[in-house]
Parts: sequence; C-alpha cells; structure tokens
Amino acid sequence: MVGPFAPPEANNSTPTREGERLASLHGQPRSHPPRRRGSERSTFNAVNVQRSKGRGRTCFTAWITGERELAPPEANNSNPTVNPAALHRSADESRNVQRLRGRFRYCFSIDPARAATNDAVMRILHVGDIVGSPGRLAFNKIAVPMKQRGEIDALVVNAENTAGGRGITAALAEDLLNAGADVLTMGDHTWDQRDLMPFLDVESRIIRPMNFAPGCPGRGWTTVETDAGPLTVMQAIGRVFMQPSDCPFRAIDALFKQGMEFAPVILMEMHAEATSEKVAMGWHLDGRVTSVVGTHTHVQTSDERILPGGTAYLTDLGMTGPKDSVIGRTVDTILPKFLTNLPAKFEVAKGSVALEGALIETGPDGKAISIERVRTFIDDV
Ligand SMILES: [Fe+2]
Ligand SMILES: [Fe+2]
Repeated sequence: MVGPFAPPEANNSTPTREGERLASLHGQPRSHPPRRRGSERSTFNAVNVQRSKGRGRTCFTAWITGERELAPPEANNSNPTVNPAALHRSADESRNVQRLRGRFRYCFSIDPARAATNDAVMRILHVGDIVGSPGRLAFNKIAVPMKQRGEIDALVVNAENTAGGRGITAALAEDLLNAGADVLTMGDHTWDQRDLMPFLDVESRIIRPMNFAPGCPGRGWTTVETDAGPLTVMQAIGRVFMQPSDCPFRAIDALFKQGMEFAPVILMEMHAEATSEKVAMGWHLDGRVTSVVGTHTHVQTSDERILPGGTAYLTDLGMTGPKDSVIGRTVDTILPKFLTNLPAKFEVAKGSVALEGALIETGPDGKAISIERVRTFIDDV
C-alpha cells in the first residue's frame, strides 16, 4: 500500500471515513463533497467509482478528492485563526497519494493562511495537451463529467495536438467547446491545420501565444464568463529550444501596461520546452496572475506550489493522451528515429490513456488558494 489508502480487501466494519471511502469503492459512489471550508478536517473521498474487469485484472477508475485539516475541531468555534501546527499540509509540502497499482495520483500544495481566510470562489481544471483521439477520449470521459457534476467551475484545455497530434481543426475545436471546455489554448502547433486560421479570428474562446508575430490571426488572451464568474486566460510561448518568437516576458509586461480590463482570476499558460524559462515566468508574474502553468513537454512535473505573491505554479501540466508512447506517439515509430535518424512518420499511439493537468482553487481576490496535480488513467479503452 502506498499513501493513506488501504486496498479494498483490508476493509472492516468500523464506520470510519476510510470505511465510507472503501464502501464507495464497492459500488456505492458518494456524491461530491461540499466546497472546502477553512475549518474542516482532512479527509479523502472517492467519487463516481467505476469498477471494470479486463485483461485478467480488476481496475477501478475514480476521481479522488481531498479536504484539508486546518485546525483542530475544538479550536474551530472559538478561534478562527489557523494553528499552523495543526495543518495537515503546509505550503511547502506536497504529498502524493497513489493506490491500486498507481491508478490514481492526488497531489496538492496549499497556501495555509489564504485557505484559512478565503473560501474558494472558483475551481478550475487546466488540462495538459490533448493528443489525438485517445486524448479526446480521456477528456470526454474524465474532464467533461467533472464539470457536469459541478466539481469544477471552469475547464481550460491545451488543444494544440488534438488533430492526430498536429494542431486542431475548427470542427474539433467546436467539439471540445460544445462538450464543456471554456477556453482552448494552442502552442507551436497552432498553424498545423489551415482551417484554424480564420476560426481563430471569429471564436474568442480559443487563444494562441500572445508573442507570435504581430498580425497573426487570433488573440493571445481572452476573458470568458463561467458559472463562478469571469475568467481571463493568457498564453505565451517560450524561446529556448523553440522556433523564433517575440520575447514572452516583454509581451506580457506590454499587455499589462495597456490597461486592459481583465477578470480577477487570470490563468497564464507558458508553452515552452525549457523548465528554466517556465520557472522564470512564474516568478516574473508572481502576484500579478492567479496561476502560471507550463505546457508543451507532455511530461507532468511535480513542483506544484503557491509562490509568495499568491500565484499557483506548475512547470508542466503533462499530457492528455496515450501513456504507452513517446509523448503521445508510438514507440515503434519514434524509437527507430532516435536509433537511425532516418525519416519516419510519427503515429499517435493507442492503448491506455490518461488525463493530466492541475486543479486550481482561487479566492475572491483572484489569488490562488491551492493547486493540485491531476493524473487519472483509463486502462480499458
Ligand atoms: Fe507544443
Ligand atoms: Fe503539445
């Protein structure tokens, strides 16, 4: 066993929270728990559990939510301030929970002071690069139901690899938006599908990096209305180990200097290869935006944290697509390329898929309360 979860076989009759959770794993899914409140104790719940058998083994698919302990119960009524010693997690602590052969991973970082004094006003799932039809399947089976169940208020999705790994078509973009995505972001694959160019000019819910050359179709930021209020999403692209583009740091500074009206909650997506460039952007925007998260590498990093100014940060969200692959493409087509350097056509892989991203909770002032890594697998596809 890894983490605080015991396997289902270890269940007993004690009516504990753990017992309730295990009961839910055996076909009695709990409803989604209420929003977190500053004084609640820590607990975990598995919701909407699906049990399936395949390839000689039983698999569970679930969304696991956690609630943090902020103060001992006796202190809650009389003293609204947080006892730091009682914190289940601290701002500097990230904790991974894995169970059932690594089917689930739940990780998060919290700003304890802000969590004690702010109720979350918006929960946003920011999804890493969708790759091909496997990525679309993971999005539709995991992210969309989360929004339909009210577990998240907004859904922001990197869609630069949606069409067979190469960009996104206007039709596929409409599919993602109609399914529940609030904003689509792009990246270096923006121009792979030619019919997207006119679409970028007419659909305000899809953005491309703001530091592309002036005059390019589309926009680098947008504001949308969600059930929890307005949300601004921005994107920039890096220059280290990437194709030439304008300076992303000066581009975002110039945008802020224009005096445009943004929503209180601002998500910044930094689409870049180099971790250093993404980390630098996090510090550059700390205190000015709600979150800075990276995309493009398709490999999720484990450095989620709340920066001192209140900005949630994660170097890379990861990928939403086939896991037995080389960042989404088949091993059989990528590996020979490395071994021989001969030309090859890279195919999108098949098999088990995963949705990767981050869940960001914001307070009423737009500063982040928490950031949680999301990594959920579907085996039997
Ligand atoms: Fe990319
Ligand atoms: Fe990508």
